[in-house]
Amino acid sequence: MQTIIDGRSAGYAEAGQGRPLVLIHGYPFDRKMWEPQLTGLADAAHLIAPDLWGFGESAPVPQASLGAYADLVRGLMDYLGVTQPAVICGLSMGGYIAFEFYRRYRERVAGLILADTRAAADSEEQKVGRERSAALAREKGVSAIAAQMLPRMLAPATYHSNARLVEQVAQLMMAGTVEGIVAALGAMRDRPDSTGLLTQIRLPALVIGGEEDQISPRQELEGMARALPQGRLKLIPGAGHLSNLEQPDAFNAGVREFLQQQK
Ligand code: MLT
Repeated sequence: MQTIIDGRSAGYAEAGQGRPLVLIHGYPFDRKMWEPQLTGLADAAHLIAPDLWGFGESAPVPQASLGAYADLVRGLMDYLGVTQPAVICGLSMGGYIAFEFYRRYRERVAGLILADTRAAADSEEQKVGRERSAALAREKGVSAIAAQMLPRMLAPATYHSNARLVEQVAQLMMAGTVEGIVAALGAMRDRPDSTGLLTQIRLPALVIGGEEDQISPRQELEGMARALPQGRLKLIPGAGHLSNLEQPDAFNAGVREFLQQQK
């Protein structure tokens, strides 16, 4: 589905009814990465999955930032008439945006699900890596970014044995555009450190992710869950960075249990 938010076209998916649960995708994906949740959790919540600016059916913005992405989420909630506080779930870059959404619109947040993400900002070395990736995208296109990232997206055993899932993840990444990718790299590079924010988030929070995540290692997930005053942790065996796609049943069960605990 598509609408206009802040004068630009914005794509989104919606499913189910009841308490709102916003699903914010990671980089370099779009809302389609939430397919197993949009089907598997539709009986548990009103699911809203935006395409971030420059991804899927959403137009690019000249200067992307986590703030611009968070504003898009807020604009979509307004458009859909979601005024009650929502559970905000973000995977990886989506988690960085969930922190930014909390900073800006905490009255709209009922709880957080932080999936395969990190609270820390980029190190200097990681910032240089963002520049290199942006140059790669500009010079060689989206396929080069997909090829670079693919081996780190899934648990090593899955990567070597599940050709169908590997192909699916590659196709999801290949749907991106150079413009959207370069903008997101800049937004992630410039994001603030949210480590100090964790102790101030006095809301139910679930930290969930793959035990074998190579991008947001389990130690970081464990640290976030410890720092959050109402934090819970669910580590998913046999999953890497895209735990929602790699082990969708375990991921959905974790989210479902978290939602039930809030009733
Ligand atoms: C993501 O999955 O959203 C990105 O890999 C996060 C990052 O590069 O920091």
